[in-house]
Amino acid sequence: MSRTIIVSNRLPTKVQRTGQGLTFQPSEGGLATGLGSIYRADDNVWVGWPGMFVDDPNEQQQVTERLQADSMAPVFLTESEIHDYYEGFSNGTLWPTFHYFSEYALYEQAHWEAYVAANKKFCRAVLELAGPDDTIWVHDYQLLLLPEMIRRERPKATIGFFLHIPFPSYELVRVLPWGAKLLEGMLGADLIGFHTFGYQRHFISAVSHMLGYPNQSGQIDTPSRPVLIDAFPMGIDYQHYAETANSEAVAQHVLAYREALREGRIILSIDRLDYTKGIAQRLRAFEGLLERYPEWRGQVSLLMVVVPSRDQVAQYQSLKEEIDELVGRLNAQYSTISWTPIHYFYRSFPFEELVALYRLADIALVTPVRDGMNLVAKEYIACRNDERGVLILSERAGAAQELSDALLINPTDTNHLVDALNEALLMPEEEQATRMSHLRALVKQYDVFAWTKLFMDRLAYSKIKQHIYTTD
Ligand code: F6P
Repeated sequence: MSRTIIVSNRLPTKVQRTGQGLTFQPSEGGLATGLGSIYRADDNVWVGWPGMFVDDPNEQQQVTERLQADSMAPVFLTESEIHDYYEGFSNGTLWPTFHYFSEYALYEQAHWEAYVAANKKFCRAVLELAGPDDTIWVHDYQLLLLPEMIRRERPKATIGFFLHIPFPSYELVRVLPWGAKLLEGMLGADLIGFHTFGYQRHFISAVSHMLGYPNQSGQIDTPSRPVLIDAFPMGIDYQHYAETANSEAVAQHVLAYREALREGRIILSIDRLDYTKGIAQRLRAFEGLLERYPEWRGQVSLLMVVVPSRDQVAQYQSLKEEIDELVGRLNAQYSTISWTPIHYFYRSFPFEELVALYRLADIALVTPVRDGMNLVAKEYIACRNDERGVLILSERAGAAQELSDALLINPTDTNHLVDALNEALLMPEEEQATRMSHLRALVKQYDVFAWTKLFMDRLAYSKIKQHIYTTD
């Protein structure tokens, strides 16, 4: 029987070491939560790193057995691979470059070599598992070289690739000393998917400028094979969020939170700690709201959840300090005995509590300066069975291409953001309901299952096209 082998740097389950030994928790982030609902179907397997350095062979065995029982195959990274491949090239070079923060990007030959070696390690893990009829679906910027590496060993394999972050303008890709090699790596796939048409266009333009391969109607003709390029905006498991939002457990959490927060209005902000998410800009906008519209003081609080992430990378450490300072300063300046302007949590929340926060929030403030898609925006919408609440969304998140009934803002325009906050707080319930029902219909229809089906159907079509191409 043919199955799908999903490959990503991070598995949907992460291993942690506690006083009680190794524990297994759900991973954070869009890829893991988004695909988490689909990989268990039909004997599929997910290959990836369990998120922690494990070198003891007995522990590796324990982790492997535990994950295998849940259809996962771990790839163990050494400490130097974590440092040079994950924190170094993936998150110190590619992440800032692809999010237009090229001033943060490092260009270290040693990091590049570690990236090549780690991609080879993932390649060996895939080849050990994949049968000739299996479909291999590679995900994201940590594994850009993998499609081509697999192709070299298995010329006939069916390989899809999906990028979960933006693909930037050619002008940024050309700055990377290894840019052409990365493009060749991706072109090992039969189908390359992006969240938006804009990212797809940037990729085609980079390939045309840097490799000189011709393209037409979403197809690039490499010297050996045609490769299809398309946009597939990722969805979420809508039903899972909507049902959980209706559950008794969530109702209890909402009640408890409401009691603790009294009558105050809530603006919700949830992100991984990342400079791309615009967290500091958001805090400044909240300050602007309290300054320009003082009538909201004592009436509205910002509930801000920041999920720890990549804390060994320098920019993430300094961002954490900047956020801590800003929150401290604003709370010290505006708090009263009965009102706290910002409730700040530096941790992740269990699923039902997260859904309760979505249910509670009058406004979801999703204002990244760059974001491939942003699934938090879609999760908020899926949880609003009551058709209340306002989504304020950055026009520079991929999700803005679809969610046009949100209040769309430019995250660097603080004045605009302050006005959008005031407008959202004053929005009549009928208008909230109209916007929310449109948004919900969209998020419901294009959920993660529809996304997967579209991608897989197109991947199957790419093989038919190639057959015609080679027999012509
Ligand atoms: O958005 C890209 C992505 O790979 C997502 O899967 C997720 O949001 C995040 O980055 C996870 O990052 P990390 O694996 O470094 O924690």
